[in-house]
Amino acid sequence: MPYVTESNLTDVARERWSNIPDPRLREIMTALVKHVHAFVREIEPTQAEWATAIDWLTRTGKLCTDKRQEFILFSDVLGVSMLMDAINNRLDNGATPTTVEGPFHVPASPEFADGADMAKNAPGVPCFVTGTVRDLDGKPVAGASLDVWQTDGEGLYEAQRDVEGPWLRGVFRTRADGSFAIRTVVPISYTIPMDGTVGELVERTNISHYRPAHIHFVVEAPGYHRIVTHLFRRGDRYIDNDVVYGVKEPLIVDFKEVPGGKAPNGETLESAFYEVNYDFVLQKAAIAKAA
Ligand code: BEZ
Ligand code: FE
Repeated sequence: MPYVTESNLTDVARERWSNIPDPRLREIMTALVKHVHAFVREIEPTQAEWATAIDWLTRTGKLCTDKRQEFILFSDVLGVSMLMDAINNRLDNGATPTTVEGPFHVPASPEFADGADMAKNAPGVPCFVTGTVRDLDGKPVAGASLDVWQTDGEGLYEAQRDVEGPWLRGVFRTRADGSFAIRTVVPISYTIPMDGTVGELVERTNISHYRPAHIHFVVEAPGYHRIVTHLFRRGDRYIDNDVVYGVKEPLIVDFKEVPGGKAPNGETLESAFYEVNYDFVLQKAAIAKAA
């Protein structure tokens, strides 16, 4: 091994990290050395800046629990989560696009009957989400599951409230004609958690820390590519600068105000409510290649 100099150090380290039997890990580690070295060569950090970065990473790690993942939030605000999402969900034209999952999904939500209210006792203006799940040829997908979660009308998720749960989350299924109906409340725009190391960093920028109002969905059916996505409220003040880059044009929908009367699930409401209509389009799952 040659003794190192500033100019040969990257090559020496890459050579050492190429000594890995697993080809994928070898590819990852040699690329990591290449890009981290290039970053350090470009920035030329002072020793004090390097120590600040190590301290920031240490504090970020200490904030992570089973309820909070500050590293994923860092990935979100850098646009890395959406890049990961794009790379792993290259869908055909016409299929409903995916977007970032975010930290507030709770697995195994309760199943609700078609048209049922997943927002009982929650603050907010009633909102009815209806639509269909179809394939790329327009054929209805019966029995598709829609796992839905969102903030309440005060901008809070279940994990941010002192509730036993479930709170503003549920699983709905499409009928034989591919249709579904959900009663919920209108979500509002909200800030990402700003009380941690990511917030500390974002505070030093002019970047907005808000997400436009949205409802989260995981839509899946046997034989189809599972999608993790949102529906965003058209006209929201943060629609063009979502802090996690999650907005895609086909996911922006109208929340139509209705003064009261018959709701899409058959109920009659005296006060105003909102209606959202959306047709999700799933594409067939790729057939796994034989090894
Ligand atoms: C969310 O939509 O729930 C979310 C996504 C990324 C970061 C924070 C929140
Ligand atoms: Fe969200």
